[in-house]
Amino acid sequence: MGRPVKAPLTAIPPEIVAAADYEAVSRQFMDDNAWHYLTGGAADERTLAANRQAFRQWQVRPRVLADVRGGHTTVELLGRRYAHPLFLAPVAYQRLFHPDGERAVVQAAGLMGAPMLVSTLASVSLEAMAAQATGPLWFQLYWQGGRDSSLALAQRAARAGYEALVLTVDAPVAGIRNREQRTGFALPPHVRAVNVEPVAVPPAVPGGSAVFDGLMASAPTWADLAWLVQQAPLPVLVKGILHADDARLAVAAGAAGLVVSNHGGRVLDDVPPALAVLPSVVAAVNGAVPVLMDGGIRRGSEAFIALALGARAVLVGRPYIHALATAGALGVAHLLRTLREELEITMALCGCANLQAIGRSSLRAVRPDGAELEEAAL
Ligand code: FNR
Ligand code: LAC
Repeated sequence: MGRPVKAPLTAIPPEIVAAADYEAVSRQFMDDNAWHYLTGGAADERTLAANRQAFRQWQVRPRVLADVRGGHTTVELLGRRYAHPLFLAPVAYQRLFHPDGERAVVQAAGLMGAPMLVSTLASVSLEAMAAQATGPLWFQLYWQGGRDSSLALAQRAARAGYEALVLTVDAPVAGIRNREQRTGFALPPHVRAVNVEPVAVPPAVPGGSAVFDGLMASAPTWADLAWLVQQAPLPVLVKGILHADDARLAVAAGAAGLVVSNHGGRVLDDVPPALAVLPSVVAAVNGAVPVLMDGGIRRGSEAFIALALGARAVLVGRPYIHALATAGALGVAHLLRTLREELEITMALCGCANLQAIGRSSLRAVRPDGAELEEAAL
């Protein structure tokens, strides 16, 4: 049925030189089911587009003749040093995109020194990934309907060697996935979330709300976060923060870090692009914990913009899955190297020898028509 799906490449063709190239070629290597799941967003996909567009409101400011000898991209986070600030965002069900799925990504992440955030909904055993890993793994935790089951999963990840937990809080109910509904998305029989039991959806209450009396009835709250932070054997970061007040609440609950994210525009439409709210979250946190960010990063220069606005590291999502589908571990490693080189070139040409040197003065704010914005109007 449908068009033929090509086998993944075993070498990178010379014309693939950027994330956009992987995006363009990768459709040949996956079926429509996987393609729409990967590339789609919530509802009318305005936030999905806005995540990309938000970067166009900033330009980077080159500085010439700066001495950047000995420059580097290392970053310290949670007491550990990482070679660069480009991390792999949690993405569910990676065997949809390549037969090796998460295994290929673990391999590439280790090779390139990129921490991999493994999804609760991974399609490979979390212990098998940890056994194979040659670099740091963090575990993305979806609340499992209650405290005991959530903590049990967190403890399992800790025992396997994961170094941090990332509790995703922006998707307690399924998003408004109209594209998936229209295209009839379904997991094929060989792909499933092997590490968890399906979370039971409470039965419908007559006359009740499928949302409020359904999954939201067992969704986590701030008290659950504080409890998890107390109980969990690992630092807990919170992913899916878009509001300065929530950032303060998360810090008060003991979060070890925040990820400013709208889940790649996949859960709710018409929410702000992550980049647009990053500065307000960074200001609210005021250095108490590291703030990470994801959504729409496709170039090293865009990672630079996020870092200049206060992100300590950034996550990339869809780009590495495009690379995975195209050429497995080799593709993901190549994509990571490409992004890192782009970041290094941007830093060098902007006179920044390390990440601390990247700041607000490295950027120029522009209106959509290209005119410079007054600082006061920001
Ligand atoms: C995701 N994302 C995600 N996030 C999470 O916390 N747990 C998950 O299981 C998933 N699964 C998932 C599947 C797919 C196919 C995509 C595209 C995304 C969200 C992800 O971690 C990240 O926030 C966004 O992908 C970042 O945006 P970009 O880089 O894709 O634009
Ligand atoms: C998604 C869920 C799995 O974005 O987080 O598809």
